[in-house]
Parts: sequence; C-alpha cells; structure tokens
Amino acid sequence: MINNIDNEQRQCLTIGRIAPDFTAMTTEGPITLSQYRGRWVLFFSHPGDFTPVCTSEFIAFARLQPEFEKRNVQLLGISIDSNPAHLGWLYDIFKMTGIVMPFPLVADRDAQIAALYGMVNPDRIYEQSVRDVFIIDPNQRIRAILIYPATNGRNMYELLRLIDALQVSTTYGVSTPADWMPGDPVIVPVANTLDEAIARGMEPESLEMNCLAWWYCFADLSELTPLPNQ
Ligand code: BEZ
Repeated sequence: MINNIDNEQRQCLTIGRIAPDFTAMTTEGPITLSQYRGRWVLFFSHPGDFTPVCTSEFIAFARLQPEFEKRNVQLLGISIDSNPAHLGWLYDIFKMTGIVMPFPLVADRDAQIAALYGMVNPDRIYEQSVRDVFIIDPNQRIRAILIYPATNGRNMYELLRLIDALQVSTTYGVSTPADWMPGDPVIVPVANTLDEAIARGMEPESLEMNCLAWWYCFADLSELTPLPNQ
C-alpha cells in the first residue's frame, strides 16, 4: 500500500525528497516505512531471490548488521518476489550459513513500491528491480541513491563509509573530501565574509584550520562543534 503520494514525488524521486511512505508485508510481518522515523534507513533492492550475487550480498549485510546498528541504521531489503519465496530463500541461507537474517525483506509482488522508487523503468535491461540503494535520514529525507547492475554486488564497507560521511555532514555541517575515512580531516564550509576569507588565507592556524586556499580549508572534527539541534 502506497501512503500519501503526490504527483511531484512520483515524477522525480531524487536526493533531497522525502522518501515516499508505504506499508508492505515483509519477512518480519507488515511494516510501514515511516515507523523508522528517527533512524537512518538503508533501503535496498535486489533482482531476485535464490540468485548467487544477491545471496552473497545478504550474507554480507547480515554479517555487518552490528556495524549498521551502531550507526542507528535500519537495513530494509526489497524485491518483487513473494513473501513465501523470501522465506524459502532466507531459510536456505540459514541452512547454508547459520545466519538468521537480522532485518526485514519487503515482498513487492505487484512492483508498486519498486515503481514508486524508480527501481523498474523501461530503460532497464531486466524487467525486475536491480541493485538500488536509498539512504534515508531520520527525517525520512533521501540523502543518497546508488544504482548497481545485477551482475555486480555492492561493497558494504563503502555503504558504511558513506553513512559515516553523511552523518558527519549532518551533525557538523561540513563536507568530506574524496576517499574520506572516519578520523580524516573534513572540509569546512567556505568563508562568508571578506574578513573571514583573508583570515583563512593569511592565518588559518589561528582558526584551527589547514587552508590550501581561502576557499579550500580542512579541519579536524575534534576542533568543531556540532550544529544546534544535533
Ligand atoms: C545474481 O544475484 O546472481 C543475479 C541476479 C539477477 C541477474 C544476474 C545475477
């Protein structure tokens, strides 16, 4: 069931939009996306149950679930298979590995949710959801979207790294450079005034910054204070 969708949301689902709400059957019973308000959600699709790449991804997600939990992230899978198919597949994974899948998997048999999230469209080679990832913040806003092909599994460590980066940006109002890892310096927002720009250019150390140019400044997170209301 799709909850309160307006036309604008249907036409252009992208970063910055509120994640469309829905209620659906999962391997843990019915869920509504908005029940996870206050948590981050990693909502990801896979092409189909009983397929090797997807199986490897679910095992990897399950093994790293404590890392997602530490970051207040709810994992939520989806595919257009039925709930009985999901249960059969997760049971086989349990038999193979001993892993009881620690997050719900949505059954989207009529592909309504997949269509809503643009997981199926006429340009896609396979008429099935592929490997999409929607990272949704605690206000239910979509903060990142990744799309991978059916043939290649996702890197769980990159997903964790991106969540760390998004959480740092949200808490401190900063950006993160290429290849940033937790503990690395972050990029501070550009100066707003000429005085600030000159200070950054001339004496960045006094501002606890490392500036290669007045508009290109880094700082250690330990020198920064969280934004209000964080
Ligand atoms: C897989 O998970 O192995 C897979 C699924 C659909 C197409 C190709 C590979």
